[in-house]
Amino acid sequence: MREITVALAKGRLANKAMELFEQMGISCEEMKDKSSRKLIFVNEELGIRFFLAKANDVPTYVEYGAADIGIVGKDTIMEEGRKLYEVLDLKMGKCRMCVCGPKEAEERLKHHELIRVATKYPRIAKDYFYNRKYQTVEIIKLNGSIELAPIVGLADVIVDIVETGSTLRENGLVVLEEVCGLSARMVVNQVSMKRENERISRIIKGMQQLVREEQA
Ligand code: PRP
Repeated sequence: MREITVALAKGRLANKAMELFEQMGISCEEMKDKSSRKLIFVNEELGIRFFLAKANDVPTYVEYGAADIGIVGKDTIMEEGRKLYEVLDLKMGKCRMCVCGPKEAEERLKHHELIRVATKYPRIAKDYFYNRKYQTVEIIKLNGSIELAPIVGLADVIVDIVETGSTLRENGLVVLEEVCGLSARMVVNQVSMKRENERISRIIKGMQQLVREEQA
């Protein structure tokens, strides 16, 4: 039997996703050893294997069929714009994509001034400002600690993830506009969805049931 391959975005999301798979009776003992540097974990009995990848790479593995299924944040799915099926909202890892900055930036934003926007998500930022707000902005791509940008004068505002809001608070920034809500999603390769329909559908349904139970 061909193994079903699942790509998990490394980190907190992967741990939570594995808990869900375990509740469905799909476990991988090898994966629990946190000191291990192993990248791929197989459950031969069930014909399934898991690997951990950088979040940004998960949609790539899924689009090319190197993984049949991926678990990754909606932010990454939107930013990568890969061809794949988004089949399920796992309702975990909930947060928001927001335009943030110092309170003073609010007026400049409102008056459609040519502002500079720093972000790790240039595609999402571009889509938001150009296609939804019809506002021309200058987008500057950064790779982390985005909150620094308005503080040191690199940008007027940022487009970034807000979860608890504490990073903003501790740096004197506020949410100015909300772009969209985010959470973890299950994505599936388009060919696998046809070729392995039965097994993949079973996984989707099982996961859906768990998500429903957790929400209740
Ligand atoms: C993310 C995000 C914010 C922060 C938001 O950064 O970019 O900086 O978390 O969380 P909060 O609202 O709970 O404070 P992350 O820690 O992933 O690292 P990064 O700075 O490298 O993007």
